[in-house]
Amino acid sequence: MSNFNIAVLDGDGIGPEVIAEAIKVLDVISKKFNHHFEYTYAPVGAVAIDQTGDPLPEETLALCKRSDALLFGAIGHPRFDNDPSAKVRPEQGLLKLRKELGLFANLRPVAGYDELVDLSPLRPERIRGVDMLIVRELTGGIYFGEKGRKDDGNTAYDTCTYTRLEIERIVKMAFNEARARRGKLTLVDKANVMESSRLWREITRELARENEDVELNFMFVDNAAMQLILNPAQFDVIVTSNMFGDILSDASSVLAGSLGLLPSSSVGSTVGMFEPIHGSWPEGAGQDRANPVAAILSAGMMLDHLELREEANALRLAVNRTLAEGVGTEDLRPREQLGTRAFGDRIAAAV
Ligand code: IPM
Ligand code: MN
Repeated sequence: MSNFNIAVLDGDGIGPEVIAEAIKVLDVISKKFNHHFEYTYAPVGAVAIDQTGDPLPEETLALCKRSDALLFGAIGHPRFDNDPSAKVRPEQGLLKLRKELGLFANLRPVAGYDELVDLSPLRPERIRGVDMLIVRELTGGIYFGEKGRKDDGNTAYDTCTYTRLEIERIVKMAFNEARARRGKLTLVDKANVMESSRLWREITRELARENEDVELNFMFVDNAAMQLILNPAQFDVIVTSNMFGDILSDASSVLAGSLGLLPSSSVGSTVGMFEPIHGSWPEGAGQDRANPVAAILSAGMMLDHLELREEANALRLAVNRTLAEGVGTEDLRPREQLGTRAFGDRIAAAV
């Protein structure tokens, strides 16, 4: 019997609904394998702004720091999207959380499901065999570089800075991920233009000498965007900087057919954070329509990170089995359409 303290930051929109289903499935897993998960909820995002004026209240951050893992729902609300100049924004909560918890690596697996091949915007023959992992740097680059205005506000700048340490730790992790998969790593950059990209290449070439069992190649980001659509099955592990990873992982996320399927983990030096790739879908909130699979699979990535491998595999098997039965939420256009809660029930029962 092991005990784990899980901080639950279910956030805005559909976040709470999909996280509730993830916890439903975790409850079955914990009974079956005799673990105890202690959940503590805390606000983040627009909900936290409404309650406290701060998208990441001190108590929420303190809770995360003393937890074993962190389940995250979604953040964002249209009232901020329509006002990009708002001083306090939900996204700041997420960015601060990543930085404060040292979550420098964002892992986003993308795989096609045979049963759902018709949902993909690409032709079936291009989707079959797609199974890749995007390793996105998460606490550096243009997101966190010096930014500001000058010339009375008429010039604006965001700088992309990377240090050797920041590049080394993420590229090392990507080599290890590639080794555990099909042994292929692609560094995506813009080394024909950007100095920081040239440093990424230099360091990655150095690290390649200690990782000769992994096949390494380099690709410019514009070409990578094209290749992800033309021939996504060529990729195993992609490693890239914060902004390129943000863009490419959204592009890749639709390959599987629904954003509602894809999980992610953000890891680094301390506690790991696990969250669905999708956003808060405010229009769908409270309607029992959201697909809980991304949140459930994120809980699976959490189990892996806690080294509960058998438990993680049991969870994934339950998801695969349920999808194969042709049931699901509306985004999957299934034979048997269910609401969020009923879909979660079926997956929990399949464990
Ligand atoms: C993501 C999101 C965030 C990002 C936003 C909400 C700040 O798009 O997790 O990919 O850009 O990193
Ligand atoms: Mn994004």
